[in-house]
Amino acid sequence: MYYNNVAMITHTEQETVDLGYKLGKLLHKGDFIALKGDLAGGKTTFTKGIGKALNVDSVINSPTFTILKVHKGDITLYHIDAYRLEGNEYDLGLDELAEEGIMVVEWPEYYETYLPKEYIQITFKYIDDNSREINIISVGDKYSKIVEEMQ
Ligand SMILES: Nc1ncnc2c1ncn2[C@@H]1O[C@H](COP(=O)(O)OP(=O)(O)O)[C@@H](O)[C@H]1O
Ligand SMILES: [Mg+2]
Repeated sequence: MYYNNVAMITHTEQETVDLGYKLGKLLHKGDFIALKGDLAGGKTTFTKGIGKALNVDSVINSPTFTILKVHKGDITLYHIDAYRLEGNEYDLGLDELAEEGIMVVEWPEYYETYLPKEYIQITFKYIDDNSREINIISVGDKYSKIVEEMQ
């Protein structure tokens, strides 16, 4: 059930970082963000902004060959790229980790069994070289206020 929905277009990479930063400032320990959309959609770019908001000092990049990257900050950022899981179910204990920090998951389609009941879903759509359409949805009621504040 979707409780709120915000759509916008960013026209530069920096605008996408800034949008991630804005969201990052609204997040708390235990929050869960799912980032959908094709390659080069801006998922990792957006995550850099979240990291900046959390004062993470390690570099956030595409963890394509790593399932999970842990970034220490004001709140720990768990950055997951589920692409390589290919929908396989492993007992990785990632759902327990989620309680300990902020979980950001790229390719949540490959992570279905670990998705919580409520989360923020953000979809990135390629418009042209420099523009991306970004849709933010609150799945469940928990995050509807945060999504509203992203307006
Ligand atoms: N408006 C924009 N927002 C985000 N990235 C953009 C934008 N315009 C161009 N880009 C470029 O698109 C690429 C996005 O890459 P990335 O964030 O790694 O995407 P993903 O993680 O979805 O594969 C980067 O090379 C970035 O410079
Ligand atoms: Mg990526």
